[in-house]
Formats: sequence, structure tokens, C-alpha cells
Amino acid sequence: MQTLIINIKELLQVRENTIDKVSGSEMAILPTIKNAYLLITNGTITAFGSMEDCPKINVDKTIDASGKIVLPSWCDSHTHLVYAGNREQEFVDRINGLTYEEIAHRGGGILNSAKKLNETSEEEIYNQSKVRLKEIIQQGTGAVEIKSGYGLTVEGELKILRVIKKLAENYPIIIKATFLGAHAFPSEFKENHSGYLDMIIHEMLPKIAKEKLADYIDAFCETGYFSVEETERIMKAGNQYGLRSKIHVNQFTAINGIEACIKHKALSVDHLEIVTDEDIEVLKNTETMPVALPTCSYFISIPYTPARKIISAGLPLALASDFNPGTSPSGNMNFVVATACIKMKMTPEEAINAATINGAYAMGISETHGSITIGKKANLIITKPMNSFYELPYAFGSNLIEQVILDGKVIA
Ligand code: NIG
Ligand code: FE
Repeated sequence: MQTLIINIKELLQVRENTIDKVSGSEMAILPTIKNAYLLITNGTITAFGSMEDCPKINVDKTIDASGKIVLPSWCDSHTHLVYAGNREQEFVDRINGLTYEEIAHRGGGILNSAKKLNETSEEEIYNQSKVRLKEIIQQGTGAVEIKSGYGLTVEGELKILRVIKKLAENYPIIIKATFLGAHAFPSEFKENHSGYLDMIIHEMLPKIAKEKLADYIDAFCETGYFSVEETERIMKAGNQYGLRSKIHVNQFTAINGIEACIKHKALSVDHLEIVTDEDIEVLKNTETMPVALPTCSYFISIPYTPARKIISAGLPLALASDFNPGTSPSGNMNFVVATACIKMKMTPEEAINAATINGAYAMGISETHGSITIGKKANLIITKPMNSFYELPYAFGSNLIEQVILDGKVIA
């Protein structure tokens, strides 16, 4: 099966040679080809270039992209999109003056979602979550990481991971699963942290590993949640089962968690709203991707990740949606990119690099996703006609996507 896309006004994120990520000043460079073609063979990108060199061949399908931009699908490396119900009352409570932390202290927040999840059947959770998955596919996401973390019981965590597995089997989007048992301490373990850590390490992890339900492990390393030492225990245990870590860290406070993540060779450190100079120093010359979640900052009114500081230190940066019921009830990656440009002063080139190739790196798939490169998966966005790709973040409230291609097939 061959599909040829012709007359592309501008083809973005063109990389002749496979790269795994872009860092520092390289992030400002987004290679493109104007007036381009792209050939897909059996779901893979097999040729691309200028229209002058477009092969004259018979194909099964031709798409005329005159006036339109084509780019790789978004790679959203951090979500919690499998959950039950939602938390719109907490949204109103925050408008009326409570903070995220105050709501959590009253038993709301993550524990509120965990209660709902444990009361809901696996089938119902699947049905609610597939609606969100279908929505982000239509919004241009072609690869997504989904975390557990709203179970906080052996059965609850397994239930979420099984739902993630079923979604991965039934939808054409690539899904990576992350085990986040260490998201919050259930109330019965409030005074017995080591008891809950033992449950994660000795009960949940072996079952999850046996059923091959997770690719990565995560913990919420934060004041009032998991200490640096507790997070280290989780990372160490994960590594023993072959699960590399992707850690929630530096969301509200800087407690030297990043240094510990580097020590345990984390694939990514996510949030980073509060970052010290020491944190930046330890990230230099490592394989760990910093990940910013600007719609979380937007939604709960906390500082934005200091992208300029991170990029000017020569570091890479990825962008993700954090899609979850408490701090970012949206998985719209175009809005994430726009918010990064508007609030974090990232250029559109930097933000698109951060949401494609660097997002792919942050979920371990940059060999196959995140750029227009021969041999990579044909996961693509075709936009509506537009003046330039700057319109994607500029017209932040518009849906500028006309077609979505996953695995070479037009699916939305
Ligand atoms: O990434 N910070 C920790 N976890 C989620 C929010 C969880 C929730 O409030 O439900 C986040 O922001
Ligand atoms: Fe998160």
C-alpha cells in the first residue's frame, strides 16, 4: 500500500539522518522543505523531498496538500488519561481561593480520583478513557505515554494498566505505559510510608512485571508526597525489573530530586516549574530529558518551567500535556505548544522540536517517531491551508488540523 502526499506547502521536522533529540541552541532549528512531497509505503516514510524530484509512480492513494503544512504527529510523553469521573468541583474551589495543596490536604486531589477509580469497573474506565484517547488522536497526537497512579491499591493499579494495554491493542496510536503506584500515600498509609513502599515494591511491581504491563516507572517526588529517599527506593526497584524511571519532580519545591534521578539514569524528569542553578548543572551531559507541562501551570496557576534558562544552559527540553483530571484536563498538544510559545517564550521552532522529536525521546521511541526521516513511522498531521506554520501556536484556539495519518492510514 503506497500513499503519496504532493504539493506540500511546507514539510516540517525533516531529518535526513536519525537524531534522537535536539538540545540547547539546536532547538531553534526546525529543518523544513517548501513545496515538498512525501511517500508512504506500508505505514513507513520511504521517500520525501522537493516536488521537482517527486517520483512519477503509480500509487494506491494521492493526497494533494496544496497550501497545507505537513509535520510529524505530536509525541505526548506524559499523561494520566486513564481515570474515572473528573474533578470539576476542585476547579471551582480553586477559583474561590483554595490552592492545589489545600485541596489535597482535605482528601481531595489524587486521593479523590483514586476513590472514584476504585469504585468504577474496568470496563467503565476503559469506556471513559477511550473517549479521551480518540479526542487526542483527532488533535494530532500520534504517540502517547499513559501512567497509572489513580489506583493506589494492588487491584486499582493493575486495573489502570490493563486498561492502558487494551487501549494500545485497540487503537492505532503507539502507547507507552508507566507504573505510578508512588503517586500519593493512601490515607491508611499516611503514618506508615514504608508499608506502602513495601506494597509497591513487593506486591505491585512483581505482578506488573509478570503481566508485562509497564514500560517505565514513575514517582511523585515532592514535599508532602514521596521524599528523595523514597523516590530512590522506587527507581532502584523499577530498574531491577527493567523499568527505567520518568519522575514527577520540582513541581512545587526543589528538594534535590533531580540529582537522584540522574544517579538512577532516569529517562526523563517532568514538571520542573521550580528549578535551581544546581538542578541545571546536574542535568548537563546526561541522557535525561527535562519535560515541561505548561498546561498544568496554566490550569492551576503555578509558575511555568523556565524554558529559556534550560535551553540557554545547552539542555534539551520536551513538552507534554500532563492530561489528568486534577492539573491539566486537556490533552490538546497544539495548545501545549502555543502555551509554551506565549508563556515560556519558546519560539515555534523550539516548541515543535520539543513536542515531536524530544517528546519521542522522553518515551524511548525517537528511533521510530518524532521526525520526517526515511524508515520512521508515517504518523503525520496535515493542516488546513495556512500562511506559515507559525499559525499553529498563534491561532491557539483554532483547530487547524485537517487530516491525521497514523501508520500510513488516514484516520481522522
Ligand atoms: O502531573 N503532580 C502530580 N501528578 C499530576 C496531578 C495529579 C492530580 O492532581 O490528579 C500532575 O500534575
Ligand atoms: Fe503528571
